[in-house]
Amino acid sequence: MSLSTDFIVIGSGVAGLRAAIALAEAGAQVTVLTKDKASESNTEYAQGGVAVVLSDDDRAELHEGDTLIAGAGLCDERAVETLVTEGTRYIKQLIEWGTEFDKEGGNLVFTQEAAHSRRRILHANGDSTGAEFVRSLIARAGREPSISLLPFAATESLLTADGRCTGVRYLDPILRAPREVFAKAVILCTGGAGQLYQHTTNPPVATGDGMAMAYFAGADMADMEFIQFHPTALSLEGAPRFLLSEAMRGEGGILRNAQGVRFMGRYDERLELAPRDIVSRSIVAEMRRTGSRTVFLDMTALEGDFLRHRFPKIDETCRALGLDIAKDMLPVSPASHYCMGGVRTDLWGRTTLPGLYAAGEVTCTGVHGANRLASNSLLEGLVFGARAGEAAASDSGQLSVVSGRSEARNEVAENKRKPALSTAVRKRVKRVMWERVGILRDRESLRRAIAEFDQIAKANLSTASRNFVTLAGLVAAAAFWREESRGGHFRTDFPEQEEAFRAHSIQRLGDAITSSERIDPGE
Ligand code: SIN
Repeated sequence: MSLSTDFIVIGSGVAGLRAAIALAEAGAQVTVLTKDKASESNTEYAQGGVAVVLSDDDRAELHEGDTLIAGAGLCDERAVETLVTEGTRYIKQLIEWGTEFDKEGGNLVFTQEAAHSRRRILHANGDSTGAEFVRSLIARAGREPSISLLPFAATESLLTADGRCTGVRYLDPILRAPREVFAKAVILCTGGAGQLYQHTTNPPVATGDGMAMAYFAGADMADMEFIQFHPTALSLEGAPRFLLSEAMRGEGGILRNAQGVRFMGRYDERLELAPRDIVSRSIVAEMRRTGSRTVFLDMTALEGDFLRHRFPKIDETCRALGLDIAKDMLPVSPASHYCMGGVRTDLWGRTTLPGLYAAGEVTCTGVHGANRLASNSLLEGLVFGARAGEAAASDSGQLSVVSGRSEARNEVAENKRKPALSTAVRKRVKRVMWERVGILRDRESLRRAIAEFDQIAKANLSTASRNFVTLAGLVAAAAFWREESRGGHFRTDFPEQEEAFRAHSIQRLGDAITSSERIDPGE
């Protein structure tokens, strides 16, 4: 049996919830599908905060400038301007909706993070900013009777007919069988793909399914080679790679090597607050130089009471693992954190496939270029989630839902009963991604990774496993294509930035990689 609704939103992070609210405000019926409970997304785990121009000494041009520098020549200036200028308005609206950012003496408190020229990062409950976003957006969405949230419903395919996205196929959590929903348009807000890597700060849901589904449905993908590795994920044997927020270095944390020596001065004059890609590569170099598996984050110069108040979640997690953030050296090493590339969109979330919109980490809007500025992602989800919802409502509001005779191009009939992402495929892909498509890459490592993914893809895989290995192949192929180093992409065989590659990689099903000077497909 198939269902229909006006609009489908896939994902319940900041972008998905904000898009659903925009659609509901336009009078539409919205079904939000999410593969876990509604609060489980990358947004929920965002610690550091949200960058926004709200303090007296800040200006939009400064935030724009910092974002463009971090993006290493590949940001779309209009996208950055949209993010920064509209971001302030949307954050004020979020505050009106009940989001509680941390304050002192009744005033908002702004913290510092790497590569920001001003203290402009708002945070909530110390280090649980994303969770506060989710809490307040779920409460706001709950006040819209036309929004239905469907948790534990994993979407596996986008359905298309006559070159248009017409709906989705998902696994019904009760029937435990595939089911179809049709709509005027689908808004993809499925987040990133940190789980492609053996070591990641991302939760288990961040497997990048939305990117793979969009690719199979025929949408353009852009800049897939640009992966951000966070420098300081906790690195304790047997413990999850819990994020130790960049804000800890922003507040004065120091990185030391295995001999206890502060080492960032050897690599960059901005020390611990150099851009993330530089700090991550410096840590790798220092671990190699000293033959050690980790370096250490040292917070001991700061007051214990301040640290426990400022970073309560990190304090609690470290304490449970036997570490005192105020007294101990905290073992850290880099882990995959954020995808700058994704589904190519214009400034209103329109992809190259009619009927398919996207917002948040699943996209490439040109906001981040080759490297995302810290704490710009919650802002991106908010601004572009709202814009995608508004655009979908105004572009497609008058259309009627087309059901039946749609196809899902990532499935073959016998796979429909094999839904799970197999543990063996997942483990093998993650290991190859970490070792060969990781922080440092070269032609040979990438060639071998691509060959291995091609081999895995030949097996009789479930749809979810096929999505996963295909996505890994896209990242590896784009990294192979880009014969230079820029932002989050570092080729040891091409260590310099090359003017010839000041362009975006574009991948489309059935075509060889091309390049484009513009992200916006409509330009
Ligand atoms: C962090 O708290 O370090 C992560 C924030 C971000 O990735 O923007």
